[in-house]
Amino acid sequence: MSADAGKRQAAEAAMTYIDNGSIIGVGTGSTVNVFIECLARDPGRIRAAVSSSEASTRLLEDAGIEVMDLNHAGPLDLYVDGADESNRHLSLIKGGGGALTREKIIAGASRRFVCIADDSKLVGTLGAFPLPVEVIPMARSFVAREIVKRIGGQPELRERFTTDNGNVILDVRNLEIAEPVKFERTLNDIPGVVTNGLFALRGADVLLLGGADGVQTLEA
Ligand code: A5P
Repeated sequence: MSADAGKRQAAEAAMTYIDNGSIIGVGTGSTVNVFIECLARDPGRIRAAVSSSEASTRLLEDAGIEVMDLNHAGPLDLYVDGADESNRHLSLIKGGGGALTREKIIAGASRRFVCIADDSKLVGTLGAFPLPVEVIPMARSFVAREIVKRIGGQPELRERFTTDNGNVILDVRNLEIAEPVKFERTLNDIPGVVTNGLFALRGADVLLLGGADGVQTLEA
């Protein structure tokens, strides 16, 4: 089965977590794009969405769904987003698309985070996927040195990329993240780091994995 088919299965399954007429958080990425296609079949199903990126906002608006500012939406019941990797504890690496900061904010503001992915994203230990770290531009060299000193790995500037918040991304390769919560805190402590792509302090609550055997549901 292709990864695309797995993504579609997971996205369809996430539709069952929506309460009619609610305001939901919507993430970013190719799996979420399929989820937005599902929402587009019945745009009146939700009252509005809070979006984690300009890219998702465009797709949601094209689908006829109102996009609300988080400040006006209040606490959200549900956030649906993809991941680059997940372990069995539902700690995630996110940010392959560069939207990690808004994603982490919306995940934090939501009661339930349902993560959707094809089953290739489930790993034993996080870190084969380069860990994205969003950094204030003037701090990028300092932060890269501090990352090597504090957690190791090889930080590389993501070329020709600026986040929706006007910052840059360092992708950190060659990590084995045995203790995601500790790593997340250590990275947060470096001045100049806006957000890192580890979602462990607030991981997913439900992971829906599409694959050859249908949708597997893991709960934290
Ligand atoms: C966006 O910044 C990311 O966090 C995505 O959620 C993540 O990269 C998953 O993307 P795909 O659904 O395209 O694999």
